[in-house]
Amino acid sequence: MTTKNKVAIITGAGSGLGQATAVRMAEEGVNIVVVDVNEKGGNETVEMVKKLGVDSFFIKTDVSKAEEVKNYVDKTVEKYGQIDYFFNNAGISGSGKYFLDTDVEEIEKIVQINLMGALYGVRYVAEVMLKNGSGSIVNTASSAGVIGQDSVVTYSATKHAIAGLTKSMVAEYAKEGLRVNAIAPGPTETPMVKAFYEANPAMKENATKGIPQKRLGTPEEVAELVTFLLTSKAEYINGEVIRIDGGFTNTK
Ligand SMILES: NC(=O)c1ccc[n+]([C@@H]2O[C@H](COP(=O)([O-])OP(=O)(O)OC[C@H]3O[C@@H](n4cnc5c(N)ncnc54)[C@H](O)[C@@H]3O)[C@@H](O)[C@H]2O)c1
Repeated sequence: MTTKNKVAIITGAGSGLGQATAVRMAEEGVNIVVVDVNEKGGNETVEMVKKLGVDSFFIKTDVSKAEEVKNYVDKTVEKYGQIDYFFNNAGISGSGKYFLDTDVEEIEKIVQINLMGALYGVRYVAEVMLKNGSGSIVNTASSAGVIGQDSVVTYSATKHAIAGLTKSMVAEYAKEGLRVNAIAPGPTETPMVKAFYEANPAMKENATKGIPQKRLGTPEEVAELVTFLLTSKAEYINGEVIRIDGGFTNTK
């Protein structure tokens, strides 16, 4: 089935994995709704994808606020009347401190953005998709959502929860035409990871050592996987949490 003139919402599309996926999906002719809290990055992505000949607009959103999530869904429906693809991807990593050194405000912030933001997104987007008879969602988990890791306890808890959200949505709605998958990237060279490793340099060396392929992933590699999963090329793949980590979690 063609991807031309389909509509994708991508959260966290102003940077990193979201931006790379916006570009890759635009190459497939998909119109892109760019959602991000960062106006500069969001507008930059809109410009990038428009150059590829698709329609696009930016909706400034803090995904941790349910009413703002509902707003990006409503605005998309107003403009296009449909949502075919949803990359539910916005997230933050946290400070990298051990759990007992982390204050409650940081714990709440990570949960509110990574978990509540993802839940609100699926809640409102899936409703529109099911009204239209089909839709495909990819949620962003992490290798820290597959295995336990130090220095990221809250982050890891939210990313494990993404796997539960993904699988359980399939149990309820696959029969109505919904596909929901998740990706579990290992360390990938995006601005988020660069900033995290700049603050914690020893962790970068450690991370690379622990990856059998001895390098970090690239945003383009992840974008390729997400594009495959979102589109009908992956029509019979549902409820999966697909690792893309150079062998990292499979050798733990
Ligand atoms: N890069 C990695 O190594 C890696 C590995 C595994 C999982 N992930 C996950 O991938 C996703 C994307 O991360 P990235 O590496 O591209 O990071 P990034 O920082 O480059 O991009 C994240 C984007 O999300 C946006 N964002 C943050 N909080 C937001 C909020 N409250 N509302 C709306 N937008 C918000 C940021 O402005 C930014 O544009 C995250 O969920 C992250 O946890 C990343």
